[in-house]
Amino acid sequence: MIGIFDSGVGGMTVARAIETLCPGFPLIYLGDLARSPYGSKSPAMITEYSHRNTEFLLRQGAKLIVIACNSAASTASTFLHSHYAQTLIDVICPAVNQATEISKTGRIGIIGTRATINSGQYERRLRDVRPDCRVYSQACPLLVPLVEEGWLKRRETKMIVKQYLRPLRDKQIDTLILGCTHYPLLKKVIAPRIGRKVHIIDSSVAVAQHLKSLLEKDDQLRADLYDPETPSRFFVSDIPSPVHALAAAIFGRTVTLEKTDV
Ligand code: DGL
Repeated sequence: MIGIFDSGVGGMTVARAIETLCPGFPLIYLGDLARSPYGSKSPAMITEYSHRNTEFLLRQGAKLIVIACNSAASTASTFLHSHYAQTLIDVICPAVNQATEISKTGRIGIIGTRATINSGQYERRLRDVRPDCRVYSQACPLLVPLVEEGWLKRRETKMIVKQYLRPLRDKQIDTLILGCTHYPLLKKVIAPRIGRKVHIIDSSVAVAQHLKSLLEKDDQLRADLYDPETPSRFFVSDIPSPVHALAAAIFGRTVTLEKTDV
């Protein structure tokens, strides 16, 4: 099974993209809603939670882990890679590769949680791949709670998005990375406010495309993970009331959520 974890339901945007691009590969999802949000926590805390989440997924039989949380990927990836021999994929590298390929001017913007932006990981990895690029980052701490409240089309949300994007607009970026798993749900609000000509990189789609190409290239990995008879399972460490509606909005269908302790 493909193990996927996130701090909550945002990573379901990644699960959904993987489900669409890689049919027949069952998923085991963990949303650590009891400890969410990660984006405002310290790197040490996020690393500890990410460690526990990975252990849980491996115990459930995951053979590959997708770190579907930008806050976890940017602060705990190094630790997880050094600790586990299993294939680990995170949301950052695929988005960075797409952004550096697509951007013509090399002026790239990133929006994410405080943990993600403060880690500097996106900037570092962008410069590693394309040293000439200019990277402009913006933490948007209010966007996760707005998404979780379901305020996707509210006037207040549009105003806040506009305010956050203004500095990036002023820098005339031509590519914007949505560096948080919740932000794909705000894509329709973000696109007109950053400017229609700006390419928007959705890290959830980028990671699913990366996984698809990995499965196409690696026969052993494909054989280990392909199992169309086994259904995907979705675990959460807490079930606050809006979570069902949010999960249904992401998947376009009702999703059964199983409560677990991690
Ligand atoms: N999933 C987190 C991320 O992608 C956002 C929510 C949180 O702060 O926990 O950064």
